Amino acid sequence: VKVAVLISGGGTNLQSLIDSSEKGYFSSEIKLVISNRPDAYGLTRAKNHHIKTAVLDRATYPEGKDRDLKLLEMLQQEEIDLVVLAGYLAIIPQKIIEKYRNRIINIHPSLLPSFGGKGFYGRKVHEEVIKRGVKITGATVHFVNEETDGGPIIFQEAVKVDFDDTVDTIQEKVLAIEHQLLPRAVKLYEEGLLVVIDDRVKI
Ligand code: GRF
Repeated sequence: VKVAVLISGGGTNLQSLIDSSEKGYFSSEIKLVISNRPDAYGLTRAKNHHIKTAVLDRATYPEGKDRDLKLLEMLQQEEIDLVVLAGYLAIIPQKIIEKYRNRIINIHPSLLPSFGGKGFYGRKVHEEVIKRGVKITGATVHFVNEETDGGPIIFQEAVKVDFDDTVDTIQEKVLAIEHQLLPRAVKLYEEGLLVVIDDRVKI
């Protein structure tokens, strides 16, 4: 399976995918890493492993439709089968969601549907977790559909929230889970074990 990974930031989830690939944990090949931010450290991680990179940022592509078209062109040019959003903070165009129905997976740092949807990303998620005083949080891997963080859920894993936890300590615990769940999702996908029935994933 040919995989494209879309990032916006540090790329620790990308790194866990690269490490899993190099360890032979899954046979899928990470063909392409695309960032919407030229300064994303994840681009450096990709280059360190000789993976093709591309930047689709507003400065280079001011027109959203040009950016969307370029994204679709790149995915098709590299014959991508599976798109993985790993800390990607831009919206996936409708045309791509349709073309890659149940072939785009996203990792979100909460137990969806809690703390998901517009405006809930990165540290903001953990700030709300603390504010709300929930006793467990975690990570969710799901297929991407038209609704932000709303697609069929593939995996979830929970972690306890302690009273003295901070955004940093929660992020650390949740990232550790993300780094486990995302490679597992790619492996199950390539083994054809992720079946979607009536918008629910049967593993
Ligand atoms: C993190 O907040 C992670 O929870 C979410 O995206 C952000 C960046 O992750 N999935 P990464 O280190 O760039 O993979």
